[in-house]
Amino acid sequence: MTAASHDVTVRGGRISTEHETFEADIGIRDGVIVSIEKNLPPGQHDIDASGRWVLPGGIDSHVHIEQLSGMGMMCADDFYSGTVSAAFGGTTTIIPFAAQHRGKRIPDVVADYAARAREKAVIDYGFHLILADPDEVALKHDLPKAIRDGITSLKVYMTYNTLKLDDYQLLDVMALAGSEGALVMIHAENHDMIRWVAQRLLDRGHSAPKFHAVAHDPLAESEASGRAMALSRLIDVPVLIVHVAGAETVELIRSAQRLGTQVYAESCPQYLFLTADDIDLPGVEGAKFCCSPPPRDPRSQQAVWDGFKDGTLGIYSSDHAPYRFDESGKLPNGEATIFKDMANGVPGIELRMPLLFSEGVLKGRITINEFVALTASNHARMYGLAHCKGDIAIGMDADLALWNPAREVSVSASMLHDNVGYTPYEGMRLQGWPELVMSRGRTVVENNTLKVARGSGRYIARRQPDATVNIKTPASASRLPGLLGLKGKAWQRA
Ligand code: URP
Ligand code: ZN
Ligand code: ZN
Repeated sequence: MTAASHDVTVRGGRISTEHETFEADIGIRDGVIVSIEKNLPPGQHDIDASGRWVLPGGIDSHVHIEQLSGMGMMCADDFYSGTVSAAFGGTTTIIPFAAQHRGKRIPDVVADYAARAREKAVIDYGFHLILADPDEVALKHDLPKAIRDGITSLKVYMTYNTLKLDDYQLLDVMALAGSEGALVMIHAENHDMIRWVAQRLLDRGHSAPKFHAVAHDPLAESEASGRAMALSRLIDVPVLIVHVAGAETVELIRSAQRLGTQVYAESCPQYLFLTADDIDLPGVEGAKFCCSPPPRDPRSQQAVWDGFKDGTLGIYSSDHAPYRFDESGKLPNGEATIFKDMANGVPGIELRMPLLFSEGVLKGRITINEFVALTASNHARMYGLAHCKGDIAIGMDADLALWNPAREVSVSASMLHDNVGYTPYEGMRLQGWPELVMSRGRTVVENNTLKVARGSGRYIARRQPDATVNIKTPASASRLPGLLGLKGKAWQRA
């Protein structure tokens, strides 16, 4: 091998994948990893990784960027600030949502998001579709085409007036996803429980942000999650429950998985590091911590840690939902804003990985290999990116983050690169930081500086999620698919 055979070498680092940890150099050519061995000859450009942990760049598979929410609020981050912020936190691929609102056609929605991302993103990205209007054209024509074009996952909502699907519609969508080989992501909360409790709270004058957590009772989450899993079992189609918050929901998912249900689950930093007590602040300050489902209590935090540790929860995403603490987002009516009118969601795209590295890996709650699985490799498999992302192996994109495990950081909104203006994690002291971040062999972040141009990220047409092809269905699975003549990818296993 000659010196010129590598465009870049990353030398002397401690490499961790989801399976192993070892010391080696990494040789990169044309943005792809082509060599992993000790003592590689110098490349055209050499990066010294001694004292650093070299990990796969993160994949954040749940982010809202430049998106109009169900309540009509525009996110504070566009595809530039959102992807820059992701990169500074060690993430090299994001999967945001192309959000359909009722009455909009899917091809127009996808084209709109694609155009905006193309000119701004600095790291690679795919899209999920948010599906609010599963009419006949969508189910028969537009969705199959979008899935074939690489949007191989769909998010559906069981709550929010403008997004909510009923159980019949959920079954329609699951059946379609089953036949086309896409994954259904479910926002599981019982709409009527929430609005019934919320109305009674407001009738009694309880309008402060902390009542958001009361209105979104843990039972609303666990009931809807249980129902979603029952619908999925009825027709034997895999689903993924997103942003799991409550201990009871974690336990329900664990039990369903033991029964052989093809249910996957995601949770997020806000459910590890925040509780409902954080929302209980004077005035409207608590709005900064409001998301749906809301952060719960220490027991639920522990359940989420346990779920990550034992594999019940395989996906750790940010659910970055960036809204400013002003009229544009959290406070549409200023200080008079009631909890029902605040934009839902918290930012977290940049801190997702540093939080888990510091509090999970360095405090001994999870291993470094589990960290890699939870932040990158599992996302790659679940969302059809495993052919190019989420691993350090020959043939993979050279998406790498060089972590300094000794670096201490005191979190403040001013050090972050999103456009939100606050962070729910203000003042936390973290250890470990991704100091150099690389996407397809290009250094994106180094010395706390962005090194790449706007629009240099690439769209990735995703493949079929592995979850829909690799999971064996137990003998007890539903007989309905056979009886109903359901045909397609999900049922070919039987
Ligand atoms: O509160 C949240 N999670 N907001 C973002 C939108 C969603 O439902 O994921
Ligand atoms: Zn959601
Ligand atoms: Zn979300």
